[in-house]
Amino acid sequence: MNLRLTDNPMELLQEIDACRLAMARLRRDGRRVGLVPTMGALHDGHLSLVRAARKMCDAVVVSIFVNPTQFGPGEDFESYPKTTEADLDACRSEMVDFVFSPKVSAMYPDGADMTSVHVSGLTEGLCGASRPGHFDGVTTIVSKLFNIIPADAAFFGEKDYQQLMVIKQMVGDLNMPIEIVGCPIIREKDGLALSSRNAYLSEVERMQAQCLNQSLMAACEKITSGQVVVDEIRDGIQKIILDAGPAEIDYIEIVDAVSLTPLPKIDRPARICLAVLIGGCRLIDNVAVDVPL
Ligand code: PAF
Repeated sequence: MNLRLTDNPMELLQEIDACRLAMARLRRDGRRVGLVPTMGALHDGHLSLVRAARKMCDAVVVSIFVNPTQFGPGEDFESYPKTTEADLDACRSEMVDFVFSPKVSAMYPDGADMTSVHVSGLTEGLCGASRPGHFDGVTTIVSKLFNIIPADAAFFGEKDYQQLMVIKQMVGDLNMPIEIVGCPIIREKDGLALSSRNAYLSEVERMQAQCLNQSLMAACEKITSGQVVVDEIRDGIQKIILDAGPAEIDYIEIVDAVSLTPLPKIDRPARICLAVLIGGCRLIDNVAVDVPL
């Protein structure tokens, strides 16, 4: 593990200019900078990204910004969990060097909404189909963060697999000089993928939500024993989810792991991705699968 290079206490930066100055200092000192973009409500999944950044970089910057442009009408922008003090404490404990936590008015001042970054293709299916405009909001804010914080590497969780692939594509297409590092999903003991939105679940819904991971694990077992027909695998996943209690399935898709195009059968590295609403809370999960031997 890389040790922090300075004993300076963590700095909280709220202004873009102050952040640029701090980043210029790091670059002048030849530090390799790792950025962990977040919307706050930090949990162990985020902290695993911070730890990965700490291993690969000399200085770690966490951004905390609940980005309004990636929420659609009727989504949870207003109610998105905010745990600022706990987030800052967690960052301090993880020896984060800088937290960048700007106001919405700083990131989107009046008139600064005429430009957006759009990645086509990869954003059309899965979450993109039911959340129009969501990925434009993500790629635009991530580009803005990369411009303010010229990091060497940025760390994203595989739980948002489509987001990770979209950001990798954007960085490649636009020749952004930053390495995108995908980090494994962190799960609760019962398999539920960690998410800030899990806080919305009641006790009963929280129990029920185990079915997402259970359905993915059952699908993996089927595939290992030779099942490659996607419709068959999808039916099995759907049954486990619907048997667990009232839920609305947004999608269950098995897609090419790179292009994210739906597959009729598993004949190449693939990803099973799903989005399910339990008690109104939209949960996503995914797992990597390969052609059975
Ligand atoms: O994954 C998230 O928390 C957000 O989509 C991100 C990447 C921080 C952009 O707002």
